[in-house]
Amino acid sequence: MSEKVSVLIDENTIDKRVREMGEAISREYAGEELHLICVLKGGVFFMCELAKRITVPVSMDFMAVSSYGAGTESSGRIKIIKDLDEPIEGKNVLLVEDIIDSGKTLSFLMEMLKSRKPKSLRLCTLLDKPDRRVCKVEVNHTGFTIPDSFVVGYGLDYAQKYRNLPYIGVAEIN
Ligand code: IMP
Ligand code: MG
Repeated sequence: MSEKVSVLIDENTIDKRVREMGEAISREYAGEELHLICVLKGGVFFMCELAKRITVPVSMDFMAVSSYGAGTESSGRIKIIKDLDEPIEGKNVLLVEDIIDSGKTLSFLMEMLKSRKPKSLRLCTLLDKPDRRVCKVEVNHTGFTIPDSFVVGYGLDYAQKYRNLPYIGVAEIN
C-alpha cells in the first residue's frame, strides 16, 4: 500500500484559526478555570497549540481510546486504553479532539465523562467531517469543516504515520 499526501489546510491557516479558537474559548470561560482533556494521540498537537492561546487558568489531562485498527473506518468498538489521571467532578471540562468522523468515539466519550459529574462539559474539535456522521454529537467549537476524505498531519495519522506534518493533508491511499 502507498499513500500520496496533498495539502488541504496549510500551517498558517491552522495557526490563525487555533488562535481565534483560543480567544473565543478564553472569552467563554472568563473568570473561570478550564480543564482540557485531550484524546491521545491525534488531539495532542492541537491541544498544546490551543492551550497556549487560552488566557484563563488551564489544567490538562489525557486519555487514550481505540476505535480504529490500522485502517480508515471506525470499528464502533471503543476501548479505554488510558483513563484520566484526575477526577473531573465539579470542573469545567473541554474535551479536545482532532477530528469528528462517524461520531461514535465522541458520543461514547461524552456520555462517559458526563457520568463523572463535571460542572460543565463541552467539545472542541480541530476538524469535522459532518457527511460521515452516524451518531449525533453537539460540537461547541469547530476549527474547520472538511469534506469526506481521509486526512493526516497535525496529529492525525494513517497507520501511525504522518502525525508530525505541520499541515493537514489529504491522503490518497492506493
Ligand atoms: P469516529 O468515532 O468515527 O468519529 O472517529 C474518531 C477518530 O477516528 C478520530 O479521533 C481519529 O482518531 C480517527 N479519524 C477519523 N477520521 C480520520 C481521518 O480522516 N484521518 C485520521 N484519523 C481519523
Ligand atoms: Mg482522535
